[in-house]
Amino acid sequence: MDDTPATNALPFTSVAKTGSIPAGEGRTFEVNGRLVAVFFDGTAYHAMDDLCPHMGASLGSGPFVDGVVTCPWHAWRFRACDGAWCDNEKLRVDVFPVRVEGDSICVQVPPSKQVELPATRS
Ligand code: FES
Repeated sequence: MDDTPATNALPFTSVAKTGSIPAGEGRTFEVNGRLVAVFFDGTAYHAMDDLCPHMGASLGSGPFVDGVVTCPWHAWRFRACDGAWCDNEKLRVDVFPVRVEGDSICVQVPPSKQVELPATRS
């Protein structure tokens, strides 16, 4: 059984004011215990997990061009529409819904999952 909460039941969280993220750039915010990168393409905002799955760089500090963010460390590229790595779509980062409410950029981010570590012998 899937224990993931229904995304439509999650609230949207305001992270920044419109106009505070220049076109072609991103910013990183903490939402529900997760780091979320929010990008502006000049028309719309996009949100994805901030953590690059290669070696953990912050994707929010990478350039955002044509709907694709380039990781600032080793240039892996991820599509904002679905989080796919441009070189192999099997690898993806989470993407999140974004909407503008008044002058606020709001994202809908589920809480991070708890990781259960195996019991250790003492
Ligand atoms: S840490 Fe992102 S490409 Fe290496």
